[in-house]
Amino acid sequence: MLDDEKLKELNAQRSSLVIYVNGKFQSASEPAVSAFDHGLLYGDGVYEAIRKYGSNIFRLDDHLDRLYESARTLRINIPMKKSSFAEIIRETVDRNKLADSYIRVVVTRGYGKMGVDPRNCIAPTVLVMAEPRDPLFSQSPKGIKAKIVSIRRIPRWSLDPRAKTLNYLNQVLAKCEAIESGFEEAIMLNEEGFVSEASTENLFIVRKDKLQTPSLSCGILEGITRRVVIEIAAQLKIKVDETNLTPHDLYNAEEVFVTGTAAELVPVVDVDGVQIGEGKAGQTFSKIREHFLKLVYGT
Ligand SMILES: Cc1ncc(COP(=O)(O)O)c(C=O)c1O
Repeated sequence: MLDDEKLKELNAQRSSLVIYVNGKFQSASEPAVSAFDHGLLYGDGVYEAIRKYGSNIFRLDDHLDRLYESARTLRINIPMKKSSFAEIIRETVDRNKLADSYIRVVVTRGYGKMGVDPRNCIAPTVLVMAEPRDPLFSQSPKGIKAKIVSIRRIPRWSLDPRAKTLNYLNQVLAKCEAIESGFEEAIMLNEEGFVSEASTENLFIVRKDKLQTPSLSCGILEGITRRVVIEIAAQLKIKVDETNLTPHDLYNAEEVFVTGTAAELVPVVDVDGVQIGEGKAGQTFSKIREHFLKLVYGT
């Protein structure tokens, strides 16, 4: 929990920020969303997390493509073209004079009457926020400890994890279980017992100089960082298998790492108390991460 001091600090930082809310820019300290918004009432909406490195909003088009796909699955019509949305995101970052930063884009079904019936809502709520944010797990630069939690990733036939929705209870509960057990991150299995992903990252292992990662059919978010890692591996002539993995594959991997916009690339040095490889960032990981950092800054 944030103590009073930390909360004061956070609010002070945010008081100088400007956010986009439904067609206008306002102070981040002002209220933005109605108590009757279906995003709040039901987690009924979609979002994207994007990073800006220097002047480069990394893979903005890919993030917008995923946002619009997620919204389509939820039958939410985003009330503008992707090009206009991209302009709003750029303007939000520019107005806050932010270089390296973390951008959050949220589209909910909007304000309306109570009740899950989508016809109860008038129009989507669109929010864009940006602020500086250190990579997740930057306090553990040597790698993190992860637990394979008991809670399973939501099955594709219930809510396809490829849609990045506001409903993250599955991941929140997974994270709670990992933290309560003394681990930093949760790894979830799918309904068949195959590895799916971490709470907000995709997962890779290295075995015999080859990368392996759960395939999309394992019920995962199709991560943009995951895609970038696969592209970097191709450049480095490292073979990548998108496949089914079990806990056995993780315990016996030479390297395990997770990838995501918030975390970037982070080695996992312990799974369920089993040391992975030499218990530190591996060579393949380090090579890929070095390329990743060059790529995000456009160098
Ligand atoms: C469930 C889940 N998996 C994977 C990822 C990584 O996706 P990306 O690399 O696009 O950030 C995220 C990111 O938020 C996520 O929420």
